[in-house]
Amino acid sequence: MRVLVIGSGAREHALCASLRADPAVQGLVCAPGNAGTDTVAESRPVEVSDPAAIADLSAAEAVDLVVIGPEVPLVAGAADAVRARGIACFGPSASAARLEGSKDFAKEVMAAAGVPTARSRTCSDAAEIASALDRFGPPYVVKDDGLAGGKGVVVTADRDDAERHARSIVGAGRRVVVEEFLAGPEVSLFAVTDGVTILPMLPAQDYKRIGDGDTGPNTGGMGAYCPLPWLPPGFVDDVVGLVLRPIVAEMARRGTPYTGLLYAGLVLTPDGTKVIEFNARFGDPETQVVLALLESPLCGLLYAAATGNLATHAPLLWSGSSAVTVVVAAAGYPGTPRTGDEVQGAFGDGILHAGTRRGADGQVLVSGGRVLSVTATGADLAAAQAAAYLRASTVDFPGMQFRTDIAAAAVRGVIRVAG
Ligand code: AMP
Ligand code: GLY
Repeated sequence: MRVLVIGSGAREHALCASLRADPAVQGLVCAPGNAGTDTVAESRPVEVSDPAAIADLSAAEAVDLVVIGPEVPLVAGAADAVRARGIACFGPSASAARLEGSKDFAKEVMAAAGVPTARSRTCSDAAEIASALDRFGPPYVVKDDGLAGGKGVVVTADRDDAERHARSIVGAGRRVVVEEFLAGPEVSLFAVTDGVTILPMLPAQDYKRIGDGDTGPNTGGMGAYCPLPWLPPGFVDDVVGLVLRPIVAEMARRGTPYTGLLYAGLVLTPDGTKVIEFNARFGDPETQVVLALLESPLCGLLYAAATGNLATHAPLLWSGSSAVTVVVAAAGYPGTPRTGDEVQGAFGDGILHAGTRRGADGQVLVSGGRVLSVTATGADLAAAQAAAYLRASTVDFPGMQFRTDIAAAAVRGVIRVAG
């Protein structure tokens, strides 16, 4: 098969590496890709926010399967455009991707499906915002209803910060979702679905804040680990029954079946597991650790989901090891990153590229905030963590930053689940 992967992050590098390892894959193209995907796939330019351009490229490359990495093309309808050309596509339609594209829509679907989530109010003006903040109290959780590239959510004890964020969203012409704060450890659970059958993957945890100890501003994700040894037994089956099956059924009932990757962002609260958000795609950086442990051939799995054949797919096979990824970011990130510096040690096992490009002399240059996602596996989490940090120590560029505590609480065994 010939496969096209859309996107340019470490998630896409991980997807390309796993697809390349599937003997069913004869040709692999990544668009637009980066200096790392370039080593496992052919790169092509594309504007990822343009569904017609993605469909044109899919047809021109004569691919059998398109895998769409990021949310922006999905919400814009890229999967619909590709399928309209008769090409199989792993990713939800625009109507189904609204689960990520509108937090208000996701709340409505969860209410209809009886899925537990934070209580919320969707607001369009200052008076509604003030009343919702009063109702739920601190810590305040204020969300942009629409896609905001990981910068849409502010969680703060400071009322002025909460109101400022809400005002900036309303000022940009969008609605604000104000919700109840959910306390407890977070879990990212990915499930592959063809709209009927659901195959959950291994749960992972990511790190959103820039600084050690979960300090500083939110980022696109600074690291992840998998599996989660502290989860109660039966957790995944419980989430399939409580969350995934009802959502997939509700989307089908509405005539907008959900196919592709359904990512449930969950919190284990003292009152049980609740949904924080849905994403319509593989998470980044969790994909880097989940795929590192997946032994089932990836192309076969994604193609089965894209063509409605998951019911006959074999159960997913996992290596039994653990995986840790450490994101190495540019100076200035998550603000304006310093770009253009040369990256030393950019190639090697487990070094997945995000914000990189080739310079005129073939050297690897920093081109974005998150530069590399350095991934390693080990017999247990402690071994995987040590291996990932050893690998990260072989990378060098001016001003590079990374968290030093990825997977640390899990390794120390100090994560507690209430209830
Ligand atoms: P998002 O950008 O939508 O992935 O959300 C960013 C982060 O905000 C989540 O991973 C949580 O850590 C936090 N968050 C979102 N909603 C809530 C909530 N209701 N209670 C507590 N934390 C939340
Ligand atoms: N890891 C969070 C995300 O992909 O949205």
